[in-house]
Amino acid sequence: MCLPKFPIILIDVCFADPPFNLDKKYTSYKDRRAVDEYLAWCEQWLRELVRVTKPSGSILVHNIPKWLTYYADILNEIAHFRHWIAWDAMSAPVGKTLLPAHYGILFYSKQAKGTKFFEVRAPHKTCRECGAFLKDYGGKKDQRHPFGMLVSDVWTDIHRIRHNKRRDPHPCQLPIHLLERLILMTTDEGDLVLDPFLGTGTTAIAAKRLSRHYIGIELDPTYHQVALEKLAQTKPTRYEGYPVSLFLGKIQSIRDCDAAHIFPPQLTKQQKRRQKAAAQPVPEPLPLAFLPVAAE
Ligand SMILES: C[S@@+](CC[C@H](N)C(=O)[O-])C[C@H]1O[C@@H](n2cnc3c(N)ncnc32)[C@H](O)[C@@H]1O
Repeated sequence: MCLPKFPIILIDVCFADPPFNLDKKYTSYKDRRAVDEYLAWCEQWLRELVRVTKPSGSILVHNIPKWLTYYADILNEIAHFRHWIAWDAMSAPVGKTLLPAHYGILFYSKQAKGTKFFEVRAPHKTCRECGAFLKDYGGKKDQRHPFGMLVSDVWTDIHRIRHNKRRDPHPCQLPIHLLERLILMTTDEGDLVLDPFLGTGTTAIAAKRLSRHYIGIELDPTYHQVALEKLAQTKPTRYEGYPVSLFLGKIQSIRDCDAAHIFPPQLTKQQKRRQKAAAQPVPEPLPLAFLPVAAE
């Protein structure tokens, strides 16, 4: 195992995207082990990740559902289940099965209480052609958040990297916006993120863009070199002073607490009516001398 034995507990969030044992063509790693061997190896690093995480920290693990069911068994003993995030990302048909259309991200916290967690917002979904909102807010349109929706545990708005020109020479590179959302959700600026299977650096780049510290571990020197080169070009991304996940110049994910400063909530119709009524001039009180006096 390449994960070094960290002597102290210092990590705010661990994110692991291990090889899936699907015979992917990595440059160094052989992605085909006997199931027992693969699972024993996973157990080793899962336990180590939990050990090095701070009491307020989280452990996030990305894989296909099949392996996540084994991971959950291990993690349920040593950490606390928070979410199974379904990341909607189509993969190739594998024969007589349901078409695999999501990857899972297990979200565990080190302790049951006191975990650092931030709600995240993503832009409202709109029609590409006419710009209309896709969600029907019924009679509650005026309660719609001015920026976007709170993110649920099903993510359909972050896409796998499809174009070769955007890919590194790596078979399983994740999109940066996936990592940015996870990091925004679980850390503050200045916190420390660990990725024990860094690949070509996605987690470290996301952390650097969001002004978090990072530690990445990667077996393969070629991938490591690509990561270093990309990191040297990476700058923090901010919107009105807040670290956000930006895609093509637009916000893709923002913490709710930061959005509250940039996009103050709009008044509902009822609140507007009350505000208008409160602004009506109040009649001057009559002087005491003119008050009608009751006849004796
Ligand atoms: C699924 S890929 C991670 C891809 C990464 N998330 C990205 O976006 O680039 C798994 C990576 O783990 C690396 N790896 C395999 N065994 C390792 C080990 N024992 N220690 C460190 N890295 C390892 C592989 O070389 C591969 O790059």
